[in-house]
Amino acid sequence: MTPGGGARCLPADEAAIQEAAGILRSGGLVAFPTETVYGLGADGLNPEAVARIYEAKGRPSNNPLILHVPDIAAARELVSEWPPEAQALAERFWPGPLTLVLPAAPHVPEIVRAGNPTVALRCPDHPVALALLRAAGRPLAAPSANRSQGISPSCAEHVLKSLGERLELVLDGGPTQAGVESSILDLSRRPFRLLRPGPLAPSSLEAVAGPIQIWSGAVVQGEAQAAPGMSHRHYAPKARLELLPRSELLAQALCGKGQVAVVTFGGVAPVPECIQGRSLPGEPGGAMAGLYALLHDLDEEGFDLILVEYPPEGEDWMALRDRLERAAAKA
Ligand code: TXA
Ligand code: MG
Repeated sequence: MTPGGGARCLPADEAAIQEAAGILRSGGLVAFPTETVYGLGADGLNPEAVARIYEAKGRPSNNPLILHVPDIAAARELVSEWPPEAQALAERFWPGPLTLVLPAAPHVPEIVRAGNPTVALRCPDHPVALALLRAAGRPLAAPSANRSQGISPSCAEHVLKSLGERLELVLDGGPTQAGVESSILDLSRRPFRLLRPGPLAPSSLEAVAGPIQIWSGAVVQGEAQAAPGMSHRHYAPKARLELLPRSELLAQALCGKGQVAVVTFGGVAPVPECIQGRSLPGEPGGAMAGLYALLHDLDEEGFDLILVEYPPEGEDWMALRDRLERAAAKA
């Protein structure tokens, strides 16, 4: 760490990536960009290093971590079974925003799995992440680089703001592209189950892996672990966030207390001057890419209430609906 106590933040060039790899090999924490959100990385085979991730995030110990790998061969070393569907999905979608849950190989540390017999694996589609994985020469455990239950980081400044005192180095690779976290598919049981919707639409996964059950039983923090750690409240800004049909936004905004923002899709809604109107793109890719930056900005500006238009139906909007519903959840 720097003498002042905070993490250093370096443009992610070759020298910085080599330095980051050295820090990771000696048990330190480095945040790095992926195509979804920034990850808080540690050597995934070093239980003490992984323990530092839980500590830095304030993450409950029953919430397992994703191991990031540079390619299919590295993934196969971490599992005890690699079904044909895993091979087909990885060939089609890796590198990319797909995390596969599979039976773990015996050497995957228990702390990574949070005691589960399975391990979550993903090969990120970002040149900095891939270069770092290759330079470190080991799988990297990496949750989103934010304090537990906070908003995920879509740029280096977000990481510094929430974890700046708790890690060694942030590799700055600019804003992330996909914006929301990877789709998580559990292949360790049948039927296969989508545990977290993400940038990849379920139908595109089904086209490769066959029928998939969409799992919607998010659990309250600390309860039964049907899918470990999928707590209902998540991704939450400090302000209260509510989802409403477009037709109800204005009336609710006018009776809201304090500073109120109204967020709509595909253009700012006409609102009186006492209310702040904001918008996200009217197509799902752009809306996902912009969501976390908008929530970070609204938090920074000190809003008390954020009213968001309920996103459209349809599978392309599923991940966005999921993140907003979690941000709006009270517990
Ligand atoms: O896009 C992403 O996936 C980002 C970037 C950094 O790669 N990472 C990320 O990690 O979102 P995290 O820790 O914020 O979310 C990982 C999710 C958690 O909800 C966890 O419960 C689930 O993956 N998970 C991890 N291992 C699992 C396992 N063995 N079985 C079921 N779920 C698992
Ligand atoms: Mg997270």
